[in-house]
Amino acid sequence: MPNSFPTGLVRAELDARRPRFIETPWGAMALYVDNDELLCVQAFCPHLDGPLFEGSRADGVVTCPWHCWRYDLRSGARLGPLGVPLPGFEPLKRCAVSTDAQGRIVLAEPTP
Ligand code: FES
Repeated sequence: MPNSFPTGLVRAELDARRPRFIETPWGAMALYVDNDELLCVQAFCPHLDGPLFEGSRADGVVTCPWHCWRYDLRSGARLGPLGVPLPGFEPLKRCAVSTDAQGRIVLAEPTP
């Protein structure tokens, strides 16, 4: 399994209003432009595999369209109604995002 994945995308190809779905060696991921920052989290919801990448997003939080579980895009934490991380839930898988010398987006192997 590689520890990085060149997407071939450049930032100008991304739409800040919606994530880009990407198949990676580690599974389906979604690449977001959030507050001018590139963030990459797993595309499907840990709950029942709902299409998290199709969920609504506000203030760095994505809401799953199936049962409205909410996740912080930066920490991956599942959030409760007050925006506080809920204990006992694995965070979303996240990839660090960088760019190569040509400005193409590269994902690092996800954590956790
Ligand atoms: S599948 Fe996402 S909240 Fe249930």
